[in-house]
Amino acid sequence: MKIRNISIPVEVYDSLNELRDEDVVLVRRALQASAEAYAPYSRFQVGAAVLLDNGEVVSASNQENAAYPSGLCAERTALFYAGARYPHAAVKAIAIAAQRNGQPCPHAAYPCGACRQVMLECERRGKQPVRVIMYGEKCTEVAQRIADILPLSFTLE
Ligand code: THU
Repeated sequence: MKIRNISIPVEVYDSLNELRDEDVVLVRRALQASAEAYAPYSRFQVGAAVLLDNGEVVSASNQENAAYPSGLCAERTALFYAGARYPHAAVKAIAIAAQRNGQPCPHAAYPCGACRQVMLECERRGKQPVRVIMYGEKCTEVAQRIADILPLSFTLE
């Protein structure tokens, strides 16, 4: 038996000023979207903003439901809408931001496993890396491709 260690390259930024302008715009859109979330049950409001290769930015928030599993995360709401509205556009980047009780979360907003799986398929479908910008008020983390944050992933291959 051998142990295979897997390392995940994630860039850590103390300030938004260190990010490229394109990413700052996306983070701001994600923050705006988080304020519009429908999350009366968890009170955890998440926003996601998706940059497409046609220049469009699509943003969305988490949408909850009294029948809990019927709700959907911000990332999947945004990506599925982008896919429905612009079926031929590839995703270039996605920013994620979260707030609780109106306060932005201090630490980076990591996407859940189900969202990572959907994001991975977007990356493969678009045939280009999708940058993931995970905003936190104190620290923002960036992965240069989704595959990096979903190692050992399930794919059809
Ligand atoms: N949520 C997201 O929108 N994205 C994630 O990646 C994790 C969780 C939402 C789902 C639910 O509405 C709330 O956050 C609490 O789990």
